[in-house]
Amino acid sequence: MSAQRAGESFYVTTPIFYVNDAPHIGHAYTEVAADVLARWHRQRGENSFLLTGTDEHGEKVLRTAAANKVSPQDWTDKLVHDSWLPLLETIDIDNQDFIRTTEPRHEANVQKFMQHLYDTGFIYQGSFKGAYCVGCEEYKNKADLVDGTGEFEGIEVCAIHSKPVEQLEETNYFFKLSEFEQPLLDFYEANPNFIQPESARNEVVSFVRRGLEDLSISRSKEKFDWGIDIPWDSSHITYVWFDALLNYITAIGYGSDQAKFESLWPATTQIVGKDILRFHAVIWPAMLMAAKIAPPHQIFGHGWLLVGGEKMSKSKLTGIAPSEITDVFGSDAFRYYFMKAIAFGQDGSFSYEDLSARYQSELANGFGNLASRTLAMIRKYFDGALPSVGALDNPADQQVAAVAAKAVSDADDAIERVAIQDAINAIFTLVDELNNYITQQEPWVLAKNEETHARLAEVLYTCAEGLRVLAIALAPVMPKATAKLWAALTEGKLGELANQPLSESATWAQLLAGTKISELDVLFPRIELADGAESQTQAKN
Ligand code: MSP
Repeated sequence: MSAQRAGESFYVTTPIFYVNDAPHIGHAYTEVAADVLARWHRQRGENSFLLTGTDEHGEKVLRTAAANKVSPQDWTDKLVHDSWLPLLETIDIDNQDFIRTTEPRHEANVQKFMQHLYDTGFIYQGSFKGAYCVGCEEYKNKADLVDGTGEFEGIEVCAIHSKPVEQLEETNYFFKLSEFEQPLLDFYEANPNFIQPESARNEVVSFVRRGLEDLSISRSKEKFDWGIDIPWDSSHITYVWFDALLNYITAIGYGSDQAKFESLWPATTQIVGKDILRFHAVIWPAMLMAAKIAPPHQIFGHGWLLVGGEKMSKSKLTGIAPSEITDVFGSDAFRYYFMKAIAFGQDGSFSYEDLSARYQSELANGFGNLASRTLAMIRKYFDGALPSVGALDNPADQQVAAVAAKAVSDADDAIERVAIQDAINAIFTLVDELNNYITQQEPWVLAKNEETHARLAEVLYTCAEGLRVLAIALAPVMPKATAKLWAALTEGKLGELANQPLSESATWAQLLAGTKISELDVLFPRIELADGAESQTQAKN
């Protein structure tokens, strides 16, 4: 266990999302992963801070607003309030802040940062000629373009969006990214965990080794003006990625609250999708190095949710709204499923059939049924009060305690590696152990005789202790179900679930004899997938 980190800060971020459209489950996936990490570290006793938000400037958002015949500010206000903030409720995200790049606290400090880089010679004026993809909001090299097909036959298109690129020719400002080629390589070498997973790290290192060019970081207002003014030249606005990356520091007080900034920066882990890894693992640390600010400790690039083998996206009409799933299965199952079914860092295909099968076997029949039958037996055989027990020195009981301790410790190690799937698998060894234990001990047989009543008490107390550990260890993944279980199991006598330190969770025999065990609602009710839902899946796949 990493108890030595208790009291330290754990600052985790998600990318900030473009508000050109409503969220789909790919976006929710990033949010859930960051939230599980934040909650786990909080439960370890760390000062956990989760930041998320919205990326509101740039040509992509401006075009969407124009297509909807509203001003960009009205458009972003509407989407943030109608879609992005509600997403956090839908999937139960406990974020400490939400930053919008149109907020004054962000805009003013982006300008401060830019001015500083300009004054110290890292930004210069030059002329740019080349291609730009609005979908990616990125300048493109020849190698990033492919021949178009269909309506774009005969022209070069962006390899990611399959749409034509803009040809730009303008005078604008450049960031001396090329100066950071060697410093970045040295930094990667000295900090092998900076880019994770390993495959992502290798890709970035070879990209940087091929050489870095200076980066255009402004756009002329003659083309469009939805962005932050370059402070020394108001005929230009800041390139949207330069603006967006800075959210990670403006939100925590860069330029405005030095004490808060120092208490959280450098961020512990920044979670990003692999499509935006280079911005975060190359441009971002170089920007910070130029400003003499330490880079974050880690950039973790996760994989994509695929539908029909392709990256899910709204623009390709494969996006599934998170509420389509949570309305049927609930937010806990959503969170569990995506963290358990896909190794974090790899791509994974989503299907309703897989979700529904796992819900039934792992949540309803596995964890949920274990909780309800244990509590029901305590209520039935001990009049609803947790029985008192002796030393619990039966080897079978001791084995349950040992599995619990190992489950928590293995899960903690896995979270340290951002291996969320491994963490859940480790915790579920305790679910399996308890189910086997009940089968072997046969409490319903022990209940038949007065002489075996003392043993029955030990068995059910052991099960209740196992459930106590499960409630704590699964709380970061399934906050709602575990809160219900905790309330039914403890009668409020052990304090809030969120305040239970993970490092002591497996210390045995914490539940107090005599505690009234209240009735537990079914944690994961049976769901009959309507034919409609099945056929809907096929249509989407
Ligand atoms: N605005 C930029 C990020 C700026 S961060 C300083 C952006 N926004 S985005 O809305 O397009 O994407 C946000 C995140 O959602 C990215 O990490 C991206 O990888 C993730 N996902 C979008 N579609 C996804 C899937 N189909 N699967 C998993 N994650 C996906 O990029």
